[in-house]
Amino acid sequence: MCGIVGYIGTAPAAPLLIEGLSRLEYRGYDSAGIAVLGSSGLRVTKKAGRVRDLDEALPKRLAGKIGVGHTRWATHGAATDANAHPHCDATGKVSVVHNGIVDNAASLRDRLTDDGVEFHSETDTEVIAHLIGRSAADTLEEAVLEALAAVQGTYGLAVLHADHPDRIVVARNGSPLIVGVGDKEMWVASDVAALVRYTRQVVYLDDGELATVTAGGFTTFTSDRQPTQKRPTTVDLSVEDYDEGEHRHFMRKEILDQADAAERILRGRLDERFGTAHLGGLNLDPRASRAIQRVKILGCGSAYYVGQLGAGLVEELARIPADAEPASEFRYRNPVIERDTLYVAVSQSGETIDTLLAVQEIKRKGGRVIGLINVVGSTIARECDGGIYLHAGPEVAVASTKALTNMAIGFALLALHLGRVRDLSVSDGKRIIAGLQRLPAQIDQIVAADEDLSTVAGVLAEAQSLFFVGRVRGYPVAREGAQKFKEISYRHAEAYQTSELKHGPLALISDQVPTVAIVPDDALCDRNVAALHEIAARKGPLVVVTHAGVDLGHVDATRIDVPQNEPEIDPILLTIPLQILAYHAAVKLGHDVDKPRNLAKSVTVE
Ligand code: AGP
Repeated sequence: MCGIVGYIGTAPAAPLLIEGLSRLEYRGYDSAGIAVLGSSGLRVTKKAGRVRDLDEALPKRLAGKIGVGHTRWATHGAATDANAHPHCDATGKVSVVHNGIVDNAASLRDRLTDDGVEFHSETDTEVIAHLIGRSAADTLEEAVLEALAAVQGTYGLAVLHADHPDRIVVARNGSPLIVGVGDKEMWVASDVAALVRYTRQVVYLDDGELATVTAGGFTTFTSDRQPTQKRPTTVDLSVEDYDEGEHRHFMRKEILDQADAAERILRGRLDERFGTAHLGGLNLDPRASRAIQRVKILGCGSAYYVGQLGAGLVEELARIPADAEPASEFRYRNPVIERDTLYVAVSQSGETIDTLLAVQEIKRKGGRVIGLINVVGSTIARECDGGIYLHAGPEVAVASTKALTNMAIGFALLALHLGRVRDLSVSDGKRIIAGLQRLPAQIDQIVAADEDLSTVAGVLAEAQSLFFVGRVRGYPVAREGAQKFKEISYRHAEAYQTSELKHGPLALISDQVPTVAIVPDDALCDRNVAALHEIAARKGPLVVVTHAGVDLGHVDATRIDVPQNEPEIDPILLTIPLQILAYHAAVKLGHDVDKPRNLAKSVTVE
């Protein structure tokens, strides 16, 4: 949440900072600001609203070849000009941009107020600016270290100081911070998205690490003042990865990219001869795989719903008891960590704080955690003992699509891999592999039916409230469908097990409340169809996501036929029309599809 960018070099900083912020806007978009240090001192411009509002508000002449910028998702204080970053000290010489939360901000604020400091915002970040500004240290590095010694909480931060115009000092503790290396110019950022236009050479700071960044280079050191040696790595991304291209929205681009993304995650991982999956990154030998007694999957939001789908796959293919739990709840119930449980953290960003803290809790207690992560080198990926990278490519729309599809495929690979060192037969292994190989073409077939789905979405968009229902394999699909719909259409969408409808929620069914039902061609099909009759009898409009072979009888329903795969794999395909319905509903309602209200792409605060 929130994006940080900084530049020092030979070019005017302001346009580069604005460009960087527009690339980071998906990380938070309720306000933005920049500070530029020029011959007339430090000049700060900040504005509630989007980066384009900030750009319009910038003074005509804003000279300076060093600056920092920030795009915000509010935690402390509303989205106002005053609460936007950067924040300054009393002298106006220090400027700070910060991601994360200062847990002891209230007590630091009281202490500073008692000392006569006047605050200009409600944010936790402003205390850091004042602490740095009040330091008597000779160097900016020492002033930042002193300030951070008083701070409890998480931060990725960048600091400018008018008395030290040749450097930006950055620090990381729980919130990502990277340094981008150029030729006589350097960048800092919270996310490579801000940098790839200029450099692909980056250095990832570790927690507890700081860096001094000058136009000529960088040095890194720990909070104990010990130097560290970091070498730049090359990121395998380009500016096109962060462009909408010909598409109207990133979400649409990402939905359409799913067949290619599926190919990427499968590439080199399927062993047709032995009917298994090669997952070298798991760091699990067959003996360790056979010793697993339970699989516990942890993720947040949609990643948790895909985790539920993954738990089903692990139980079906590997016959290991498996379940999924929201990572945000896990550590608060002091969970028993078992040595023979395989813990799986699932996350697109690899930065979701609740998932990260769950991983750290498991590791602290001696558990083994693997990650299903999209962003290479992200914090969770680095914390895990092994894992499967999702290779979905950068995902910019807040509503996740292709990363979720690849998470589900990742779980299928994991389940296959575990199953084949246990009870899964080679013929079943080969059957699953053949199914996975069919996926990309089938995904393409679904997204090609976009026009038809757009019409259905138009009808659903008119309802204030909807149900999404499914059973067993179809239930996580329904949960994710409801999540996607509510996230970007702002309609109330509730997921239920179809079997549970008549235990209460059926009372809400009427001609005003449509139901989207997931009815695969499986052993539960007849029961699902019976439930459709019960909904129709109460005049509930029905959209049924199903397979061509399913006979819905005389039920009056709009059907969406999805290509059929193996029953274990079908949920992956059944999810995709629900993404498309949500997308078109949001477009028809005129919403900002890629940046839904109140949300941000990666949730790095608790
Ligand atoms: C998905 O559409 C949501 N934006 C959200 O639920 C997301 O899946 C969740 O915040 C987890 O994010 P992560 O995958 O980056 O950990």
